[in-house]
Parts: sequence; structure tokens; C-alpha cells
Amino acid sequence: MINVAILGFGVVGSGTAEVIEKNRDVIKAKTGADIRIKHILDLRDFPGSPFETLITHDFNDIIADKDVDIVVEAMGGAHPAYDFSKAALEAGKNVVTSNKLVVAQFGTELLSIAEKNGVRYLFEASVGGGIPIIKPMMSDLAQNNIDAISGILNGTTNYILTQMSENGTSFEAALKEAQAKGYAEADPTSDIEGHDAARKIVILAALAYGKLISPDAIHCEGITKIDSRDVTFAEELENYSIKLIGHAEKVGDRILAFVAPRLIAAANPLHDVSDVFNGILVGCDMLGDAMFYGRGAGKLPTASAVVSDVIDIAVKLGTSAGSAKWTDAKENDIAPFADHVCAHYFRIAGCSKCMEKVFASDDVKCSITADGECAFITKPMTEKDALAKEKEFAEKEIKVLSRIRVL
Ligand code: HSE
Repeated sequence: MINVAILGFGVVGSGTAEVIEKNRDVIKAKTGADIRIKHILDLRDFPGSPFETLITHDFNDIIADKDVDIVVEAMGGAHPAYDFSKAALEAGKNVVTSNKLVVAQFGTELLSIAEKNGVRYLFEASVGGGIPIIKPMMSDLAQNNIDAISGILNGTTNYILTQMSENGTSFEAALKEAQAKGYAEADPTSDIEGHDAARKIVILAALAYGKLISPDAIHCEGITKIDSRDVTFAEELENYSIKLIGHAEKVGDRILAFVAPRLIAAANPLHDVSDVFNGILVGCDMLGDAMFYGRGAGKLPTASAVVSDVIDIAVKLGTSAGSAKWTDAKENDIAPFADHVCAHYFRIAGCSKCMEKVFASDDVKCSITADGECAFITKPMTEKDALAKEKEFAEKEIKVLSRIRVL
């Protein structure tokens, strides 16, 4: 019997309890693991819940219980999630988390504490919701060098962009729906401003390249500046869709990582990843491209990933083997975003004549003019050069309404 304590009985915590209880038999039949929930920590009581008797308000009940093998941290936020995770690992308990903020900020330290104590710190649910991506990156793809990772890593923003483009829903209404469906973070600013995706891409980059970059050190743009006109123009130009993408790649010895909305060509498998779904494209030197796809947020999908870690620990109890290995990145390990090269979509106030005041026609791949605005896509250029072009427009008093990078 493997005893589990769950910290936090919100969306993910209650989902984890539900998956363990509902699928106890199938888990046992497939893996041999006999998993029991012994405690649930929450500030609230849950009268009438089937888990009512397991609720405790005191973390010490869990730490002091020698029978608890695995602590599932599903509290969210940095504190006390980090502090409780650390204390559990130091007490020789395995920890499973869905908390990307804690993994991205404190993962290196927590992995090291886990190793010292002969236990594991696993975080499958921290990236891609229910999609298996962390364990495949750690084991199934370990024999590959990873050329690049491009992923739709945030379910809330993908849901919003899909509702805007397919149903003409306003940004605000779509966000409210995403919140009601349990996709968004407690403070949805981190979803819509890209911080959640930034935490996820640095975790994936750490698994791929062995260095954990602070999410604060990467370029991070959300979707709040995307206008429905951009969605329409992108489609009309060359059937592009717009997605919030977390990207990481190796540039020489350095790692480039950033989050930004991107125009996605129809031929790219990420083009049609819609609604709450996430898609993660991993470029491998031996395998070639591998695409991971599934529900990127929501109670049961996320809980499914949490329970996959619980099972992994349960079947290999008593070892720290099979843990992620990385160190913290130094400033020197990070490639400058200014040198990144890609094509750029511009939308300006004016017509193609205005565009031609800054761009030679050879530098533009395609363009469209409608309702006093001109949208066009440039040939590939560095971020630095694209910024210089924005300045040139400003000097000529031509308003740049948006600039979106093309994947
Ligand atoms: N708020 C997150 C998202 C939850 O929308 O993707 C899953 O990490």
C-alpha cells in the first residue's frame, strides 16, 4: 500500500483524489500499485465530500506521519508550496507537483534535496496539463540532441485565441469562460501575459539542455495586444493562425528561450491546435520532429498527469533514480533574443505606400491593405533589425499597430 497526502484541495488536488479513487482498480491492474489517499491538507473543511474525513489543517500531521510515502503539492503559488515541498523532501518523502512556478523557480534546489534524501521530485503536470511530456523528455528522448522546442503551452490563452478567431468572442468574455472551466490561474494575468508559458518553456529547456533559466530572464509577451484584425489579416495573408508559443533552442553553446504570439503556417502541426489543447513540437536530431498533443489544462487532465507521477514513484519506491538533472543557468548561458531571426508580420496604419517608405519590396513576402490598414510579412530578419524598422516607421509618423513574429 502506497500512502499519499495531497496538499491543496482545489481544482488539481480534488482532481487527483478523484482519479485515484475512480481508477484505483485499473491503476492496480496495470501497474501493481495500490494507492491510498491518507491526508488532504486544506484551510477549508469539505462537509459532505467523500474525502471529508481525510482533511487536515495542519501540515505537521503529514510530515510526522511515517506512513506517508508521497506528498502531492497542488497548492499553487510560490509559498508555502515551496516550503512544504522542501520540508517533505527533507523528511524523506517523495514529492509530486503540478506547480510550474515552484519548479521553474526552485526546481534545481528541490531536485538536489530529493537526491540527497533518496527520494524523487516529479512534475509531469507542470507542463502541458495532461500531456505526457516531462517523462518522455527525460527518458524516451534522452538519446537525442534536441534542436528546438516550440509549444502551445497555455490552455487558457489558446482557448481565448480560438474563441476570438472561430466564434468572434471578445477577449474578456473568452477569458471569463476559461476561468469558469477551471483553466486559468488564480490570477489570470500570468496566463494572458505569458508568464505561465515562460515557466513551462524554461522547464522544457532545462530538460533538453541541462540548464534552468529563470523565467524572469527571458523575453515574455502575452496575448493582450492581439487584435481581432490581426487574426483576420493573418488568415487572409496566407492562412496563418495566431498562437502563443514558448520556444527554446540551442544557439551555439547558449540557450535561447522566449514566449510570444506567433503566426503559424498551415503546414505546421501547431496550426490547428485549438481550444484548451496544447501542442509541443520537439525537434530531435535522431527521431526528427515529435509532436505531443492533448488537453493542456483542466481538473482531470492535470490530475491524470499528477497521478502518472504518483504511479511512477509507487512502482519504484526507495530510489531517487529517474529524476531530472540540471543546474541553474548563468547569464552567459542565455542567448540574446535580439539576434533571433524570423519573418515578422507588421500591421500599420496606412496603405502599401506607407510600407514602402520603410521596406523595399524585395524584403516583403506578401501584403494586404484594407480599411486604412496594411498588414505584411517580411523576409526573415533579426529581432534587432525588426525593432529598428519599427523606429523608422515612428520617425516617418506611421503608426505600427502590431508586430508578430512568424514561426
Ligand atoms: N493556467 C494554465 C493553463 C493551467 O491555462 O495552461 C495549466 O498549467
